[in-house]
Amino acid sequence: MTAARDERERLSVEVWRGRDEGRFETFAVPHRANQTVLDVVTWIQRHAAPALAYRFACRVGVCGSCAMTVNGRPRWTCRTHVSKVAGADRRLRIEPLRNLPRIKDLAVDLTPFFEKWQRAQGRFTPTRNRADPLAPVSPESPARKAADAGIECINCAVCHAACDVVGWDPDYLGPAALNRAWTLVNDERDGDRRGVLQAAAAGGGCHSCHTHGSCVEHCPVGLNPTAGIAGLKRRSLLDLVGSGLP
Ligand code: SF4
Ligand code: SF4
Ligand code: FES
Repeated sequence: MTAARDERERLSVEVWRGRDEGRFETFAVPHRANQTVLDVVTWIQRHAAPALAYRFACRVGVCGSCAMTVNGRPRWTCRTHVSKVAGADRRLRIEPLRNLPRIKDLAVDLTPFFEKWQRAQGRFTPTRNRADPLAPVSPESPARKAADAGIECINCAVCHAACDVVGWDPDYLGPAALNRAWTLVNDERDGDRRGVLQAAAAGGGCHSCHTHGSCVEHCPVGLNPTAGIAGLKRRSLLDLVGSGLP
C-alpha cells in the first residue's frame, strides 16, 4: 500500500483529553467498512492511548452508556457509523457529552442526570405484590398508549446534552426525567401518579421547557420527550382545576 493511499484510508480523529482543562489530541485511525464511532474510540484506546477514559457496555444500542459529542452533536456512538458523520475530509472530533460534569477524557458523571430522575419521582410505586394477579391494562387504552410511547428510553442522556434549557438552568429536570414522569403519570398501575405529576410540575419541571424539540431531534431511539412534557403541562393545569388524575 502506498503512503498516499494509506493516508486516504485513515481518519483524522480529535479526542478531548483531560477534564474541564484539557486539549484535543489527534489520532490517525484506520478507516474500515461499517466502522462505528465507538469502534474508532476503542481502536485509539487499544493502539494509541491506553489511558483514554470512555464508557460503553453493550455495543448494540441497549445500555445507553456510550453517548458522546461527535462533530458537535450528542450521539450514541455504538450505533453511529463513521460514514454518516465524517465528511469527505474524514475528520471526527469527539468530546464528552455537554451539560454534565466531566470526569476524564470522554467520561462524564451521570449522577446529576439520575438525581433528576429521582426528583421527578421517576420510580414505579407498586400497589400489588407478587401474590396478586396481574393488573389488567388494555393495550387499547389511551393512557397505555401514551405510556408505551415513552417507555423505551435507554437513559443515554443524549437529550439532556442536547437541551439548551438544561444548559442554562441547572435546576431544570430535563427531557429524560420528564419523559419518564409522563410514562408513570399514564401508568394505571402506579400508586402515586398525582405525586409524580406534582414533582414533574414543580419548580424546574415541565413548565420550564421551551418546546424547541432538540431532545426529539437527537433521541437515538426516536422518542418524543417534548410531547410527553406538553402532556405533563396540560395534565398539571387540569389537576389544578380538579379535573386531572382520578
Ligand atoms: S423541548 Fe423542552 S426538554 Fe426538549 S430540548 Fe427543548 S427545552 Fe429541552
Ligand atoms: S429520551 Fe431518548 S435521548 Fe433521552 S435519555 Fe431516553 S433514549 Fe436517551
Ligand atoms: S454501548 Fe450500549 S448503547 Fe452504546
